[in-house]
Amino acid sequence: MTDLDSAYGLETPDDNLRLYRDWAQSYDQDFAEGMDYVLPLRVAEAFRAAGGHGPVLDLGAGTGLCGVALKALGFDAVDACDLSQEMLDVAAEKGAYRRLFTGNMLETLPVEDATYGGIVSSGTFTHGHVGPEALGEVLRVVAPGAVIALSINAEHWVAQGYDSAFDALGAQITDLTVREQRIYGDAATGPHAGDLSRVTTFRKGA
Ligand SMILES: C[S@@+](CC[C@H](N)C(=O)[O-])C[C@H]1O[C@@H](n2cnc3c(N)ncnc32)[C@H](O)[C@@H]1O
Repeated sequence: MTDLDSAYGLETPDDNLRLYRDWAQSYDQDFAEGMDYVLPLRVAEAFRAAGGHGPVLDLGAGTGLCGVALKALGFDAVDACDLSQEMLDVAAEKGAYRRLFTGNMLETLPVEDATYGGIVSSGTFTHGHVGPEALGEVLRVVAPGAVIALSINAEHWVAQGYDSAFDALGAQITDLTVREQRIYGDAATGPHAGDLSRVTTFRKGA
């Protein structure tokens, strides 16, 4: 079983903690480079295209690939939050974040209400990780009008009923856009090479 299949088969935050503790040191080389993982860049581009501004919180930041992409696009006030300290330790070495801290998106994050001007999240709304139940916590920590850019695995979107979840948010969000994009680039191989994500942007309502 590949690391990716193991990740998709996780069931709880404790499962995630164990897997990412062991995967942190090899994630960038074996997974991101090996699979030509382009999704973090797509999320950063979508955030900018939607008019996103800082301070930005990268949720499920992992080893910091989306933070690096945001930095390359000129964003310099970006914080990182992840369940796994080991993943954040790798992210810290990249110098793309102002502050890095652990937190669980499925519980209450260690962040005051309306702290951030924007949110990005790449690769974390997916099988075995977090589902639409995390959207409330995402909205709590951003200011009204903030841009939020999330990648949501396309199969997970259907399985977890994101259409209904976004409908249920009503006026809590505005300007919803959804664009289906490839998670991996042309160099990817294997059964997941053609997997798709719905890169989604919206604003927190007033
Ligand atoms: C596939 S990795 C994506 C990392 C990075 N954003 C990227 O695109 O490379 C998923 C990350 O989500 C984190 N994660 C999983 N469940 C989480 C939760 N409940 N709260 C916060 N982070 C979580 C994992 O620790 C892992 O670092």
